[in-house]
Amino acid sequence: MSTLSSMIKMIVLAYVLVILFPINVIDAKIGVTWGRISSTQLVPSMVVDLLLQNKVEEARIFNDDDSVIEAFGGSNIGLSIGVSNPKDVNSSTTAIDFIQDKIAAYPSTKIRYVVIGSMPALSTAKYLNEPFDNVVKAIKFMQEALNESGYGEKIKAVITNSFSGVLKPNITKPSDAEFLDDLKEPITEILDVYKQNDSPFLIDFFPIAYINAYNIEPNYVFFDNKSSYVIHDNGFIYTNLFEFVHDSFLSALCKLGANKTKIVVSQIGWPTDGFPGANVVAAERFYKGLLPFSLSNKGTPLRPGRPIDIYVHSLTDEKQNPAGIPFTRHWGIFMSNGEPKYNIDLSGQGRDEIFPNMAKGINRMPSRWCVYNADGKDTEKVMKEFTFACANADCTSLAPGGSCSMLNFRENVSYAFNMYFQYHFQNESMCKFDGLGQVVVENPSRNGCVFPVETVKGNKRNKQLAAAYGNKRLHVDAALFLVLISIFLVLF
Ligand SMILES: *[C@@H]1O[C@H](CO)[C@@H](O)[C@H](O)[C@H]1NC(C)=O
Ligand SMILES: *[C@@H]1O[C@H](CO)[C@@H](O)[C@H](O)[C@H]1NC(C)=O
Repeated sequence: MSTLSSMIKMIVLAYVLVILFPINVIDAKIGVTWGRISSTQLVPSMVVDLLLQNKVEEARIFNDDDSVIEAFGGSNIGLSIGVSNPKDVNSSTTAIDFIQDKIAAYPSTKIRYVVIGSMPALSTAKYLNEPFDNVVKAIKFMQEALNESGYGEKIKAVITNSFSGVLKPNITKPSDAEFLDDLKEPITEILDVYKQNDSPFLIDFFPIAYINAYNIEPNYVFFDNKSSYVIHDNGFIYTNLFEFVHDSFLSALCKLGANKTKIVVSQIGWPTDGFPGANVVAAERFYKGLLPFSLSNKGTPLRPGRPIDIYVHSLTDEKQNPAGIPFTRHWGIFMSNGEPKYNIDLSGQGRDEIFPNMAKGINRMPSRWCVYNADGKDTEKVMKEFTFACANADCTSLAPGGSCSMLNFRENVSYAFNMYFQYHFQNESMCKFDGLGQVVVENPSRNGCVFPVETVKGNKRNKQLAAAYGNKRLHVDAALFLVLISIFLVLF
C-alpha cells in the first residue's frame, strides 16, 4: 500500500482521537490568601474590587466570615473558606448546618474548598495532642454532606499540610519522602475520600523558614536559576526548593497509592520584615520567579507539564497575629494603607515594574507620631513602658533582621510608643506612658525604618472575634515554629 494512504489513515485517526478526547489544557491558577488578624482591615468589598483589578481568580480566607463570603458573591472569584476547629464538624448534621449557613446562603459566591483546621497534622495531632481522627471524620462528614446537597462536584473538603507536619524527617532526596508512620493510616483514609471526589492535596510552604533553619544556599529557594546547588534523584535534577518539596509530597502520596492526586499549594509567600532575609527586595525576587513558573505549566521533574495552582500568602500584613516568629506579621503584598510594598505581577507574566493596583478608598490618619521624650532617668520605668507598648502593639520590625533593628534604645522606645499610639488610632491619652510620651509632627522614620501612621478606622474588628480568631491562628504560628525547629532534623 502506498505511504499516502497510510498517511491519510493516520490523519483521519488523529482527527477522530481529537474529537473523542479533546485535550483540555487547563492553566494553573494564581490565588491570594487574605488573613485578617489586624486592628484595621480592608473592607471585604474593597478587597474583591482589588482582586478583580489585579485579575486574581482565586482567594482563600482562614475562617467563614459571612460578610466576606457575601462580598465575593457575583465576582466569579473562587473562594476557599475554613472551618477553624475540626471538632465543629463532628456529625452529618453539623456539616449540613455549615453548608446551609455558609454555602447555600450565598448562591452567587463560588466556593472552591472547605479547609478543615489549619495544618491539622501539625497543630492538632502534635501541638494540641488532639486525635487526628477528628480531622478524618470532619473530612468525611463534610464531603458526604457536600455530595448529598449537590455541591460535591465543585466544592471539596480538604486539609492543609506542611512538610515537617506530615513527612518523615532527614530525607536527602524527594524519592525518600514518606508520611510519618502514625499518619499513614488516617491520611490514607483522607486520600480515599479525595480519590472518590477528585480532590487535591493541599500543601502550605514557607521557603524562608527553610533557608534560615537549614542554612542552605539562599539562592536555592528562588526560581532564577542562580543557585549552584542541585539535588540529583534517580536521574532527575532539582534546581530549586519548590520542586524538591512538591515532588517529596508527590513521592509520599505515591507510596500510599495516590499517584494521581493533584497537589495545590494553598499558602506560599515571602515576608518583608522581622527576620533576616525578610525584605521587599527578596519578596519581589521570589514572586518574580514563582508566579511565571506557576503559570508556565512547566511542572516539576516528577510531573512535567502539569499546572500547579498556588495561593500567594498574603494580601495584607496581620499586625495582631501572635508574634511567636516576628515575620508572621509581615506577609502582606499590601501595606495597611492599601499601597503595594513591591512590584508583583499577579497576572503571572513576570513583567518588570508592575505594581499591583492600589486598594482604593483608604484614608490615613493625620501625620502625627508618638515618641519617647527621652526624659527617662528611671530606666526601669522606661523599660516597663516599652515592654507594655510592645506587648500590646506590633514591635516585630525591631527584631533581629527587621527593618528597624538598627535603632538605638531611645529610638526603640519611640518606635514602640508610636505603634501603640497608632494602634489606638492616635488617641492622645494613649501617648502618656507615665509622662514619657510626646506627640510630634515631624516624621521620626529613618533609613528604611518606617514609623507608620495608622489608616482611618475602617472595618474595626470586634474584640470577641479578634480573640477567638487570634487563638485559632496561634496554631498556625505554633505550626510555623515547629516547622522551624523540626527543620533542623529534616533534609540537607
Ligand atoms: C540553569 O542553569 C544551568 C547552568 O548553571 C543551565 O544548564 C540550565 O539550563 C539553566 N536552567 C534554566 C531553566 O535556565
Ligand atoms: C530594641 O528592641 C529589640 C526588640 O525588643 C531588641 O532586640 C533590641 O536589642 C533593642 N535594641 C536596643 C539597642 O536596645
